[in-house]
Amino acid sequence: LKIALLLGGPGAEREVSLVSGNSVYDALCRAGFTDVTKVDVHGPDFRLPEGTELAYNIIHGTFGEDGTLQAILEERGVPYTGAGSRSSALCFNKSESKKVFLEAGVPTPHAEILDCSNGIVMPSLPLPFVIKPPCEGSSVGVHIVRRQEDVLPAMEEAVTHGTTVLVEEFIQGKELTVGILDGKALPVIHICPRSGFYDLSNKYPWMNMGGGTDYICPADLPEETAANVQEAALKAYKAAGVEVYGRVDVLLREEDGAPFVLEINTIPGMTPSSLLPKAAAASGWPYEDLCEKIAELSLA
Ligand code: DAL
Ligand code: MG
Repeated sequence: LKIALLLGGPGAEREVSLVSGNSVYDALCRAGFTDVTKVDVHGPDFRLPEGTELAYNIIHGTFGEDGTLQAILEERGVPYTGAGSRSSALCFNKSESKKVFLEAGVPTPHAEILDCSNGIVMPSLPLPFVIKPPCEGSSVGVHIVRRQEDVLPAMEEAVTHGTTVLVEEFIQGKELTVGILDGKALPVIHICPRSGFYDLSNKYPWMNMGGGTDYICPADLPEETAANVQEAALKAYKAAGVEVYGRVDVLLREEDGAPFVLEINTIPGMTPSSLLPKAAAASGWPYEDLCEKIAELSLA
């Protein structure tokens, strides 16, 4: 099988993608694929080797995860890994996917979507809340705001990523994530940042920016709670029309153990410290087998 391993990309998550992509490349080689070529993508006019049979896409975030790259590959008639272009675009937009979750009865935090194209619009939700650029990954531009004086600076930072800003009610509780592979939920992971929340520095301690994170997989939850979390994640995944694999981020409210779906990552991190590989390993999928399975399911 002639595979082009697409990595890098022009977005804010480029560095993460390079690490994910190199890990996947090594794993595919270990799994016995003999014709894998890395393609460092910087924008739409990337070249694929002649006769590519599968574009293995490990580009997180803008361009690679938001449906743009998927649409280009469809146009060029090249099969690719993961979700289709429409579903990718939907999942990459946290405001649009929230609407789909609400329609499908998937629990998700209350939110408002602010159009700041004519200047900053202040949130009307009560504090505390979370300010997010709706179309970024790896927590880029995300701020938990607890004090009135912090609202404006957070809004000013958020609009540097785009004119629409998502403001979500803050939910006190556990940060969880659920990998999905082949239409089935993997064991729930509990993410415990050693300080603060699971932001860029705690996600990727190798970037030398922060304190790191402990992961508990399977999560330390009552069986019924874990099952509810997996059910909500799978419902969100199906409602958004995702295929092959993905990772659904969920908050578990402390006061009543209710799950709230935040978003679906259609090109989830595949670095050595990433979550989907941990969840797959916990259910008996070594990293190489996971990478091979993603290729197989994408060609099916
Ligand atoms: N956006 C990063 C790569 C993740 O969700 O894993
Ligand atoms: Mg994300």
